[in-house]
Amino acid sequence: MYLTSDEERILRGEHGDSLRKAMEILVAMGKIYDADRLIPITSAHISGISYKNIGDAGLDFLKDFCKGVKVKVKTTINPGGIDFRRWKELGLDEMYVRKQWEIVDVFKEIGADIILSCTPYYAGNLPKEGDHISWSESSAVTYINSVVGAYSNRESGISALAAAVTGRTPNYGLHIKENREPKVRIKVKTKLSDASQYGVLGYIISRIVGNMIPYIEIDGEIDDISLKFLSASLATYGGIPMFHIPRVTPEWRDFTLPKESIEVSGEDFDKAMEYFIDDFDNVDIVWIGCPHVGLDEIRFIADFLEGRRVRSELWITTSRHIYRRAEEAGYISKIVEAGGRVITDTCVVVAPLGSRFKTLVTNSSKACYYTRGVNNYFVRVTSLKKCLETAIEGAWVE
Ligand code: F3S
Repeated sequence: MYLTSDEERILRGEHGDSLRKAMEILVAMGKIYDADRLIPITSAHISGISYKNIGDAGLDFLKDFCKGVKVKVKTTINPGGIDFRRWKELGLDEMYVRKQWEIVDVFKEIGADIILSCTPYYAGNLPKEGDHISWSESSAVTYINSVVGAYSNRESGISALAAAVTGRTPNYGLHIKENREPKVRIKVKTKLSDASQYGVLGYIISRIVGNMIPYIEIDGEIDDISLKFLSASLATYGGIPMFHIPRVTPEWRDFTLPKESIEVSGEDFDKAMEYFIDDFDNVDIVWIGCPHVGLDEIRFIADFLEGRRVRSELWITTSRHIYRRAEEAGYISKIVEAGGRVITDTCVVVAPLGSRFKTLVTNSSKACYYTRGVNNYFVRVTSLKKCLETAIEGAWVE
């Protein structure tokens, strides 16, 4: 792999140990994936920063790795394990707060933006079409490749960090235009009525195509929230890093299409929905915000809840950035008056909630996957409206 003389110097340790290690990671990846060179990036987003997940070993590694370096590009970080302003109210452990602070301090020190969110594109880190970037939150990677047309591989937290501090990434995979070509054509023959159904569609497509890039033909308008849910689900269930939709995504006209297509019918949806409905009566928590909600979703929730009261726990997770804007617009107070909680910096999966809840209703198929797998919850997925009706009733609404 070709390296510039500056990159060679970094690799020899002439710019310090931390940068040498970062460069070693990028060069090793480049060799594995047969990259011809490193390319400059404009943005990085780093996941894997929750103390619950990385523990003391991860914290020590980060402290050592980041010693004396600064990020070279706009860099943001994923949710951690704590809502720093509401951790007492949420019953979270003080030890976790201290440890999570230490992790966040490492990122502050290197110059990252402490957004603590998995929707960086709603929180000030929005690359342009054609930008090369290094992101490591899978749902955000699929969104940014597909919906925005920026170029990112599915990075790990460490490789995104190495890219952030060097401003470079190896040139392979989705950084090369021809690798962004759709390999399979999907025709959706049923009408989807709600963003949560795009999550179910992502599950169905993943089951059919594995991790191939799909070209999805579907009738009707698709809003940004639906694209976010589709991205999260394709990334979760199939490891799919991008998709194309005619007249919706920016690169839909750039490739020759596969001739054969696979149809997804209404019956396929009905069958898939069985996977998303566990058997339980009492609802402990309704969770909206996987991935973190944007302003439109908060506005809908606030308007829906105005003058009503929830009986179950209702958690809405978002970034600090969106929280501030929602607060100014008066949405937060409406949700709080109804008994809901708007939580920043974390989510139900990465917070150390222990066995506090057993049953969860959500509009997110990604949340379903992780709260079953990580939290051992029983889960049901339904539309945002039904989630809110369920929270108000305190029980599942048919
Ligand atoms: Fe974000 Fe947590 Fe879901 S990090 S994508 S809200 S599992």
